[in-house]
Amino acid sequence: MAERTLILIKPDAVRRRLIGEIVSRIEAKGLKIIGMKMLRFDGALADAHYAEHVHKDFYPALRQFILSGPVVAAAVEGPDAVALMRLMMGKTRHTEAVPGTIRGDFAFSTTENLIHGSDSLERADIEMRLFFREDELFA
Ligand code: CMP
Repeated sequence: MAERTLILIKPDAVRRRLIGEIVSRIEAKGLKIIGMKMLRFDGALADAHYAEHVHKDFYPALRQFILSGPVVAAAVEGPDAVALMRLMMGKTRHTEAVPGTIRGDFAFSTTENLIHGSDSLERADIEMRLFFREDELFA
């Protein structure tokens, strides 16, 4: 089933010049980028996007990191896009992400783990609206 998912290329990936590497993997997989923008998080966006994590012990470090520089937000569409992106990203923890995945190939930190992808269709819908208006998507 065609799905849409929200991807963030995080500040560490932007600093490390990995935007192109990540975008090319998404496109090579056959998924379609239907929206894309570079932006910088502010505190309110961080607290909204990471609402489920705001009370966790790792949140202060995560918040500081996600505010530390620009990110690239991408709306990705295709059959099973949510699950496919999660598979391509690899596990959240750098010590568990296997080679061949984006994190497995490039991440050496759990906080600075290069990429975010919505973890369900429900979250994808919510997160998509945080970053894109409907008229910014080009299906
Ligand atoms: P992300 O997929 O963006 O969702 C939550 C983020 O919190 C995660 O990627 C990591 O960047 C960050 N994080 C830091 N520490 C942890 C942890 N112990 N467990 C899960 N996520 C963590």
